[in-house]
Amino acid sequence: MGRNMSKSRARLTFLLLLLVALVSSSLAAENIAADEVDRFCYPDSKRDTRHSCECNNVSAAPWGMRALRIDCSYKEYRTADLSELLPLYIDTLDLSWNALDRAPVFSSDSLHQLNLMHNNISQLSGNNFARLVSLRELYLSWNSISQVEAQTFAGLPHLQVLDLAHNNLRSLPGQLLAPLLVLTSLDLSWNRRLNETAQLQTGDLYRDLGINWKLNTLRLDACSLRELRLPAGAPLKELSLRRNLFRRVPAQLPLTLLQLDISDNLLERLLPEDTANLTQVRQLFVEDMSLLEGVAANALARLELLESLSFQNSRHMNHFDGDAFGALPKAGSSFPTLRSLSFRGTILRSFNATLSPVFGQLTELDLNGLPLHCDCELVWLKRLPVETGGRCFKPSRIRGMLVTSARHEAFSCDTWPRWAYGLVVLTLIALCAVGIYLIVMGLRPHRGVTMRRKVGAGSPYARVTIEPNRQENLS
Ligand SMILES: *[C@@H]1O[C@H](CO)[C@@H](O)[C@H](O)[C@H]1NC(C)=O
Ligand SMILES: *[C@@H]1O[C@H](CO)[C@@H](O)[C@H](O)[C@H]1NC(C)=O
Ligand SMILES: *[C@@H]1O[C@H](CO)[C@@H](O)[C@H](O)[C@H]1NC(C)=O
Ligand SMILES: *[C@@H]1O[C@H](CO)[C@@H](O)[C@H](O)[C@H]1NC(C)=O
Ligand SMILES: *[C@@H]1O[C@H](CO)[C@@H](O)[C@H](O)[C@H]1NC(C)=O
Repeated sequence: MGRNMSKSRARLTFLLLLLVALVSSSLAAENIAADEVDRFCYPDSKRDTRHSCECNNVSAAPWGMRALRIDCSYKEYRTADLSELLPLYIDTLDLSWNALDRAPVFSSDSLHQLNLMHNNISQLSGNNFARLVSLRELYLSWNSISQVEAQTFAGLPHLQVLDLAHNNLRSLPGQLLAPLLVLTSLDLSWNRRLNETAQLQTGDLYRDLGINWKLNTLRLDACSLRELRLPAGAPLKELSLRRNLFRRVPAQLPLTLLQLDISDNLLERLLPEDTANLTQVRQLFVEDMSLLEGVAANALARLELLESLSFQNSRHMNHFDGDAFGALPKAGSSFPTLRSLSFRGTILRSFNATLSPVFGQLTELDLNGLPLHCDCELVWLKRLPVETGGRCFKPSRIRGMLVTSARHEAFSCDTWPRWAYGLVVLTLIALCAVGIYLIVMGLRPHRGVTMRRKVGAGSPYARVTIEPNRQENLS
């Protein structure tokens, strides 16, 4: 009994000692950390100026551990002003909007997020970030990066988000992204000469850059691309190709895409082959298309899981085929999930009544700014349960009125087509002209009468007057 007691007491003492040791060591670490924080957040050179950073303690999920957020944005820092060693427990570091002329080399095993946006970094060299082993998000957009060395992203096995948008990247070294084993989001937008990267237009981007198959989101806006081929089997979910030079939706895209933005490209018509492989897409953006004139029959027929679709601001779009969604069954719906549709800012004048089953189930239909021709063809639009913002442009007597508030009777189709009125008017004018001609001709005196009145050599009066004169001359 006594032996057992002493044994458990000894164990308790040991545990207590362990606890004290732990607490004291963590306190010591805390002191060191505080010093470091001071050194980083309030450096001697910048003490009592508004150039010191803002440091905030937060408790980070999931364990409520200490985490430090440091905000050094807008401080006119140069790279030489920064010390390499970052404070303990640092979680995020924001160095955006400074004057960094090269990417700083930092060392920290807790930093999760590094923001270097809006600086003046022009190149990235090998192993630059290798001592940030926990880094998950790296933002390098809005610099002037034109050169990237092959080993730049080595040593970042946990990086999930890489943002290189708004730089001057032209060509990227092969296997550049291979060290990023869990990369889920990659943004290369607004590198206008990126089309010079051969892999992008012809080869296999994934294989050549070493992109891993965990990638979820890829943004390639404004990269002057004319073509793109991505592996059909890659499990990509979101793809943005805004503002490139595509004339067709690229034929070979991952079959798993949930969201595609093809806005601001050079398509003139949306055709069935553009969407043939997009069977999983939920959100489709076809906005700001400067050349798009219409959507052909069946062009959207394969998008059966579509939830939202926008043609907003495609300023020349004047045709949306009645069978754009394919031949729809009269009863029941073949696009059960479609909720939102926007035609705002297009110049569509009418919609075929065959679209009413799809339009009727929407919770959002935006027809603002359309020059709608409110005639009997369009009267079905009045019966839709949603407010569309659509207004009548014609007929002129109800111009500007909301489709929903214009009276039903106003939506009439003239039994005579427009040209018939024109024809009647023309005929009347022609008849008038003929009538006037006839009247004028009738009032004019007869041709023979005028001839006889003329006095001349051949006239009978001439002889009468001349003969007496001759006789006088002879006598
Ligand atoms: C953060 O909290 C620790 C202790 O919890 C404290 O020593 C340190 O000064 C705090 N840092 C800042 C910047 O508030
Ligand atoms: C950015 O860097 C370039 C040289 O790389 C330099 O000429 C320019 O002045 C820098 N701009 C700013 C705002 O520091
Ligand atoms: C890339 O795009 C630019 C600008 O549109 C163009 O001048 C250049 O010829 C293109 N290069 C390639 C290889 O396509
Ligand atoms: C659909 O994808 C397959 C596989 O990538 C491809 O062979 C085919 O040409 C694509 N079809 C169209 C119409 O683009
Ligand atoms: C509406 O669509 C149907 C079916 O495609 C077609 O037969 C009809 O001509 C269209 N109506 C108009 C006014 O375009």
